[in-house]
Amino acid sequence: MKKILVIHGPNLNLLGQRETDIYGGTTLEEINKQLAALAKKEGAELVLVQSNHEGEIVDVIGKAPKDGIAAILINPAAYTHTSVAIRDAVAAVKIPTVEVHLSNIYAREDFRHKSLIAPVAHGQISGFGVNSYLLGLQAAINLLK
Ligand code: DQA
Repeated sequence: MKKILVIHGPNLNLLGQRETDIYGGTTLEEINKQLAALAKKEGAELVLVQSNHEGEIVDVIGKAPKDGIAAILINPAAYTHTSVAIRDAVAAVKIPTVEVHLSNIYAREDFRHKSLIAPVAHGQISGFGVNSYLLGLQAAINLLK
């Protein structure tokens, strides 16, 4: 069974209560449930991680090859726009990575228009709410077929 690492970055633990006009009312737990249902249907195994700490995210990506991870689905949240370290980790492990965002980052403040992760990701899905995650997971699974 293919293992897919799902990483939720900073403040995504607050989904459901955080800026619901932008991010919607669905909690992270519910998103993870929907991802798990899709993974089950597709015969994939998920490793779910949420962290508010850049170094922890770097560590989890760095050990992904040793952990047998075949693909990464990541919402780097605010680190999307700032983290050279997460970008370098994704580039280092050479594991196909799909970047997702609930909101359309290109339709928001200027500082959100640049993703440092996108150039090293296989692709990016942005602006479809919870569906960004589901589309992203399906894309990651399809890459492995
Ligand atoms: C986000 C967009 C980022 O700009 C923001 O910092 C987030 C969430 C999204 O999913 O829309 O925390 O990644």
